Amino acid sequence: MSSHVPAVSSGGRIALAGATGRIGSALAASLVADPASVVALTRDPQTARLADTTAVVAVDFDQPGSLEAALHGAQRLCIAHGTSLRQVRNESALIDAAVKVGGAHVVKVSSMGPPSTLPPFAWHIAIEAHVAKQPLGYTVLRPSAFVDILHRAGSQVAAGTWGGAAGEGLVTFIDTCDVAEVARAALLAALEPGTQRVHHLTGSRSWSMPQIAEELSRLLGRQILYEHRTPAAQRELLLRSGLNAFGADLLLGLDTVFRASALAETTSTVEELTGHAPRSVPAWLAENRDVFSTSEPVRACRSHRRTVSLQPHSVAGRPCHACRTHLPMGVVKAPWCNAGLSPACVRPTAHQYVSKKGGFRDKSLSLPELCPAFRLNTLPFTCR
Ligand SMILES: NC(=O)c1ccc[n+]([C@@H]2O[C@H](COP(=O)([O-])OP(=O)(O)OC[C@H]3O[C@@H](n4cnc5c(N)ncnc54)[C@H](OP(=O)(O)O)[C@@H]3O)[C@@H](O)[C@H]2O)c1
Repeated sequence: MSSHVPAVSSGGRIALAGATGRIGSALAASLVADPASVVALTRDPQTARLADTTAVVAVDFDQPGSLEAALHGAQRLCIAHGTSLRQVRNESALIDAAVKVGGAHVVKVSSMGPPSTLPPFAWHIAIEAHVAKQPLGYTVLRPSAFVDILHRAGSQVAAGTWGGAAGEGLVTFIDTCDVAEVARAALLAALEPGTQRVHHLTGSRSWSMPQIAEELSRLLGRQILYEHRTPAAQRELLLRSGLNAFGADLLLGLDTVFRASALAETTSTVEELTGHAPRSVPAWLAENRDVFSTSEPVRACRSHRRTVSLQPHSVAGRPCHACRTHLPMGVVKAPWCNAGLSPACVRPTAHQYVSKKGGFRDKSLSLPELCPAFRLNTLPFTCR
């Protein structure tokens, strides 16, 4: 896979697990023009909004037969599943099903990070260990932290309360569009049977939180500070913001990894595999400028009786993940949206919270283990 022009196995079948998610929806949209037949595996086909050319198949992770049927004839399987307590079980079940029906080459979206007991790092390590034992080829993609996670900081930056326990640690954030592009290249590459590859995917330079605060200060024309907190103080704040213990520890774990500069590595892999340099953090901040400009009021989630903070979002200047429409400045502001989508595509999917007259309706919560506040600002939107 050294060329950035992928060698497509024409007419081949590509199965996408997680096609409705952040990486998955961008990937599914990018595959539309390729000469492959794409099938999206989802737990909820009713609400999966994908291109007409993408077949949608319902799967139940507790019914291995449904996974095997969905993977029948697939030459490639991409796993880009969301973080949940079921992640190891679900992804291992998919891998087992792929083995049973003939061994598609697996492209697994994993995570860059140290050997660790912290989720989700530990979960990805367990899944990678599982796939390594199987009689099939695989490409493991280990992205650094997604720059999109800075969405969480938006209202805090606006309110002057941004801070955390990441210290001066360095992180080479990556744009999720770059991860999706690399996944596309990995799926379309011509491969020898049994090929096993691992790629570390990063942005082009590392950033500390105070450096990001400086960049935001330049962008917003006012001083933005990152308040240094102890892990205990940060945990307390996260819990008070409405996160449950699991969600708070997950975010604190990220700060721990950031503080140790465990994600400071910079690789040239994105450029080698896509033919262009990774998108930069300043570009992402500029595209998402509005996220850091307004602090929305905190509202209560009716279903879960927890408070969640909504962040307005502008996708100005960024092409829609789904339909690739390029948006002029300031066109879209959807308070519950964090994905770069055109107005026509801003529509909730299965596991999203729908704003209704100031409240929320839990349409179909797929992550009961996680607090809504953790998920809310990381939810993807897909095309009508
Ligand atoms: N955030 C980061 O900084 C970062 C960095 C490196 C790596 N990663 C990894 O990248 C991977 C993909 O992330 P993403 O943000 O694209 O995922 P996501 O949007 O949160 O979720 C992707 C899809 O996973 C499917 N899914 C299946 N079982 C699920 C379950 N039990 N709970 C939740 N979703 C489930 C859902 O599709 P259906 O509802 O259609 O079934 C969902 O749309 C994750 O494994 C994550 O750990 C993240």
